[in-house]
Amino acid sequence: MSEERTEGERLAELAKRRGFFFGASGAYGGAAGFYTFGPQGATLKSNVEEAWRDRFTVQEGNFEVEAPTIMPEPVFEASGHLDGFDDMLVECPDCGESHRADHLIEDATDIEDAETLPIAEVEDLLVDHDVRCPNCGGHLAGEPVDDFNLMFETNIGPGSSTPGYLRPETAQGIFVEFPRVKEYARNSLPFGATQIGRAYRNEISPRKSIVRTREFTQAELEQFVDPERDEPDLDAVADVEVTLYPATEQEADDGEYVETTIGEAVDDGIVGDPWIGYFLGIAQEWYEHVGVDTDRFRFRQHLAGERAHYAADCWDAESEVDGDWIEIAGFAYRGDYDLSKHSEYSDDEFTIFRQFDEPKTIERAVVDPDMSVLGPEFGGEAADVQSALEELADRDPDAFEGETVTVTVGGETKTVDTDVANFRIEEETVSGEHITPHVIEPSFGVDRTVYTLLAHAYRQDEVDGEERTYLSLSPAVAPTDVGVFPLVSNVPDLVDRAKAIVEDLRAAGLDVAYDDSGSIGRRYRRQDEVGTPFCITVDRDGLEGEGPDTATIRERDTARQVRVPIDSLVTELQAVDRGETAFDELVEAYELVAPGTDA
Ligand code: GAP
Repeated sequence: MSEERTEGERLAELAKRRGFFFGASGAYGGAAGFYTFGPQGATLKSNVEEAWRDRFTVQEGNFEVEAPTIMPEPVFEASGHLDGFDDMLVECPDCGESHRADHLIEDATDIEDAETLPIAEVEDLLVDHDVRCPNCGGHLAGEPVDDFNLMFETNIGPGSSTPGYLRPETAQGIFVEFPRVKEYARNSLPFGATQIGRAYRNEISPRKSIVRTREFTQAELEQFVDPERDEPDLDAVADVEVTLYPATEQEADDGEYVETTIGEAVDDGIVGDPWIGYFLGIAQEWYEHVGVDTDRFRFRQHLAGERAHYAADCWDAESEVDGDWIEIAGFAYRGDYDLSKHSEYSDDEFTIFRQFDEPKTIERAVVDPDMSVLGPEFGGEAADVQSALEELADRDPDAFEGETVTVTVGGETKTVDTDVANFRIEEETVSGEHITPHVIEPSFGVDRTVYTLLAHAYRQDEVDGEERTYLSLSPAVAPTDVGVFPLVSNVPDLVDRAKAIVEDLRAAGLDVAYDDSGSIGRRYRRQDEVGTPFCITVDRDGLEGEGPDTATIRERDTARQVRVPIDSLVTELQAVDRGETAFDELVEAYELVAPGTDA
């Protein structure tokens, strides 16, 4: 019976049967780690993206960009992904299957974050626990564990001279464009740039359907701040209640969750950075809004060895499915890592001008070498010697204290009389300085959010003596807002009225499914299974009574129905769909029709 299946199995079955998602390219045997979202899933996913865009772009006053998904190699040399974006790979000597060594260790032991362990220790653990290949049972003890870079490589244009990579995170598309993006923010901090788009990782062992895939969608916000001046509006989220699992609690023997508010978590130093606290607060509210079960949700701080190469601190949003915790978003303090790296590796300017409150007088070391001496002495290298002297004056003015000063040009030492270098200290009035902004990054996995919403919405109950499965999806993301049915399909008047209602609802911006096939009970079940919050049925009673023509509105979760005048349907539906009116209010205002009976 269905109860014996795991949540994941039930979900995969429903997802395929009802068109949420399924393995891609099935006609050719498929390719692990790639999924197609069917009609219901594509709409659910795009509703999640739209809800994210509204909260993290529009409501925050940020702006959105859309960068290419393929970027040239130097981008990833600078970002550190070429060298450091690796997972631990072990191959089975018997069947050749590749596995993530750290995941095998986690499955075989109580260790929760084996990716933080050194490779040698993971190799030892494979031996100590006699870890076997999950595919064929072969012995993995004694097999080498290697670093495997997760980026997909390609060539840009014909030939192999211009390597490129499919981006492993959308973030780099924002960072490399910072010199232009900052102009749109009028060169003033703080500002946020967002991007929703595909990311690609050649995962060693994709698993748990859309939870770990090789192509997935991220929704990322890069918040650029002046670390000395900018503060978030913490008051706006101070009272938001959260469940935190700080690193200290994870490391303690009897570690516990901390149930607190964002305001207290920041005041008590549990969340060290106010910007991270701010985004945790917004995220908590957003996850509740789209329908994550907050009893199966927590924020977990990364342990020191777990953090990505760019992160000074990081908290993950995690949801529980099937007894496992899934990372559905990360909130990282990236500091100036990315902008500094791109500044170092490229010729562009990744700073922003910080205006002083008052202009300042500063002392600046300058040289003004006598070229009539340098020219004859150094010939074609005279200009390089001049540049080297200017650079030295800036970096180490004390070097000019003796009678001579030396610089290196073309690998050779050049000595110049200090008098000839013409070194002096000048006073200058400056109005500001160039700083490299710091970055706080909320990074959401859209596919994992969709998976969580489906898992947390999955319900089974009984209506009219029949078992039913339904998805209690929030109207904010449900693929269809309302189903509309004529009670029977062979009465033209009912069909015409139902179709007219469909048109009115669509014109009002609602997503509507019209259905006239099969019994009314079966039609309700079909909509229940894809999470449609409300259904409208046009029946003879509603058209033949005295007063105005009416139809019924049925609430998915309780199967209660109320009879509402057709003229009021659009207004009432919009109000309940947006959460402005509770269905209970409709029950009070209108006639309740045979509660719970709809077959
Ligand atoms: N820019 C930061 C970044 O990419 P991440 O923690 O590696 O951080 C962010 O990824 C989110 O992307 C994760 O929290 C997760 O929800 C999602 N994600 C990462 N790898 C994924 C995969 N292989 N399949 C599906 N979603 C993934």
